[in-house]
Amino acid sequence: MRRTNFIATSIACLALATLPVGGVFPEPLPIKGPFFFVHDPSLVQREDGKYFLFTTHDKAGIITANQLEGPWTEVGSILPNNSTIQLPGRDDIWAPDVSLHDGEYYAFYAVSTFGSQDSGIGLAISKTMEPGTWVDHGLVFNSTTGDAFNAIDPNLSIDERGNPILSFGSFWDDIFQVSLAPNLKVVTSTPVQVSFNSTSPNPEEGAFVWKHGDFFYMFISSGLCCGFVADDLPPAGNEYKVFVGRSQSAHGPFLDRSGRDMRETGGTLVLGSHGNVYAPGGQVIFTDKQINKDVFVYHYVPAIDSPSPFNDTFSSLGLNGIDWSSGWPVLTEL
Ligand SMILES: *[C@@H]1O[C@H](CO)[C@@H](O)[C@H](O)[C@H]1NC(C)=O
Ligand SMILES: *[C@@H]1O[C@H](CO)[C@@H](O)[C@H](O)[C@H]1NC(C)=O
Ligand SMILES: *[C@@H]1O[C@H](CO)[C@@H](O)[C@H](O)[C@H]1NC(C)=O
Ligand SMILES: *[C@@H]1O[C@H](CO)[C@@H](O)[C@H](O)[C@H]1NC(C)=O
Ligand SMILES: *[C@@H]1O[C@H](CO)[C@@H](O)[C@H](O)[C@H]1NC(C)=O
Ligand SMILES: *[C@@H]1O[C@H](CO)[C@@H](O)[C@H](O)[C@H]1NC(C)=O
Repeated sequence: MRRTNFIATSIACLALATLPVGGVFPEPLPIKGPFFFVHDPSLVQREDGKYFLFTTHDKAGIITANQLEGPWTEVGSILPNNSTIQLPGRDDIWAPDVSLHDGEYYAFYAVSTFGSQDSGIGLAISKTMEPGTWVDHGLVFNSTTGDAFNAIDPNLSIDERGNPILSFGSFWDDIFQVSLAPNLKVVTSTPVQVSFNSTSPNPEEGAFVWKHGDFFYMFISSGLCCGFVADDLPPAGNEYKVFVGRSQSAHGPFLDRSGRDMRETGGTLVLGSHGNVYAPGGQVIFTDKQINKDVFVYHYVPAIDSPSPFNDTFSSLGLNGIDWSSGWPVLTEL
């Protein structure tokens, strides 16, 4: 009996382990407390253990908690008085990307409007991440109508030689990178494309680059992020989902599990819609120092009832663990 169970369990585990990545997806961590809106999250754990979550809209909203599972409290905004970047959307900041450098928190953010290429990536800096402490340094990089890219969804990473690079984009020709000066405020190279989906109009955006072991992993969100309306959902699979590719360099080329270059529509699926989770994306990873685990952070639209089954007004926080043992990120329950 025990032996039979053991074999059955082993076969089940084997079946799970050999399923294509993304064949099954674990449920996100249940979140306690009242609803809070999250889109394109960035999650940082401060030295004292407190969690700071940042979101698109609300002038780059700041939401904090003492436990990952919540309750989470909206405490303010990075830029309550708008960005100094003189572009439309300066009062509706997108996709803040927060990380610690030399004892200060750097928030790269995007100023744009839906469907526009007149966009700017800006930078605000704080010592504590608390509301009221952010100083806006304004524009770092911009795009204008006719460029191959759109200056949105920034992510700062440090390459294999210790040099800062910014991944961003896009819609249009998808994901690009530029080099930054050591002060992180000045762009020092022209944009280089690192991911492209030739079967557009399916857009790629929300890239971020994460070092694990010998590789840099680039995650992207592909598909439609928002604006879901009851009887007009995109064809199944064309809503947001998360792909990954990896490279020995932070500059790429990033290849998927089958060896396909992400510049040629490559990408291994990490997370797609399942159960109550629709259009997951805007992903980032952070290493939780309390539980000593890498945590996969994203937003998703939960299935709710009328008038539309998926309404991005209710975009929610998704948290999962990551199993890196295969050399590729496989999501787990937390
Ligand atoms: C922020 O921008 C909005 C829209 O342009 C404007 O109504 C508001 O007065 C601005 N706030 C500040 C503090 O400038
Ligand atoms: C950007 O990348 C860095 C390091 O690779 C990571 O710590 C951070 O969470 C990322 N942020 C976002 C918003 O993707
Ligand atoms: C926003 O502007 C008001 C009025 O000028 C000022 O009192 C406040 O300190 C500003 N807030 C920030 C975070 O800069
Ligand atoms: C954006 O960049 C272009 C040149 O690439 C420049 O002419 C324009 O003034 C910039 N816009 C802003 C708001 O800085
Ligand atoms: C590329 O676009 C196609 C068609 O829109 C979509 O099915 C596919 O998932 C996308 N792949 C990536 C890696 O973005
Ligand atoms: C989404 O929900 C909000 C708040 O309940 C509602 O005002 C809006 O009409 C809904 N949108 C759709 C497309 O159902």
